[in-house]
Amino acid sequence: MKHASIKIILAASIASLSAIALQTAWADGHSSGGAAAERQALMKNVGAATKVAAGMVKGEVAFELAAAQMAMATMNSAALGFGYMFPEGSETGAKTEASPKIWSDNEGFQKLVAKFAADTSGKVTDLASLKEAFGAAASNCGTCHKAYRVKN
Ligand code: HEC
Repeated sequence: MKHASIKIILAASIASLSAIALQTAWADGHSSGGAAAERQALMKNVGAATKVAAGMVKGEVAFELAAAQMAMATMNSAALGFGYMFPEGSETGAKTEASPKIWSDNEGFQKLVAKFAADTSGKVTDLASLKEAFGAAASNCGTCHKAYRVKN
């Protein structure tokens, strides 16, 4: 049995800290430069955290409480920052896969962001609670991608 990659976890935790900083920056009316690249980096970390959590849930890697909690915290802080990362002017650039619907139906999009934030806030104390928390979190990926992400 492999151990969860500490490198991924570290990268994810750094990204979640910058997500909190970004949330504040965008809320303050930050310029739109780089927003697409920033949100993609955030989603990449959600992907990395998902791999770590899924590996433990499937029994492919040994359960480690700190890694499990970090994976869920990474998803949660990404969810908390994500809704602020679509300023006007970032509809294109950085080969964005953001659907135009994010801007035309922002209310619907923000609802899914809020649901993702709620569903990633589950407390992890052991493998059973990771299974529950991760199951809730993972039910959001496809729903939002189908509605608000376009494949390039
Ligand atoms: C509320 C909507 C939403 C949810 C929930 C969501 N995503 Fe995303 N995701 C997006 C959008 C929008 C993009 C495209 C961003 C862009 O290209 O500007 C994206 C892009 C991605 C990418 C590609 C990043 C890159 O450019 O390399 C990955 C990987 C990803 N998501 C994984 C996940 C996983 C795993 C989950 C669930 C645990 C998830 N996402 C949940 C909206 C969402």
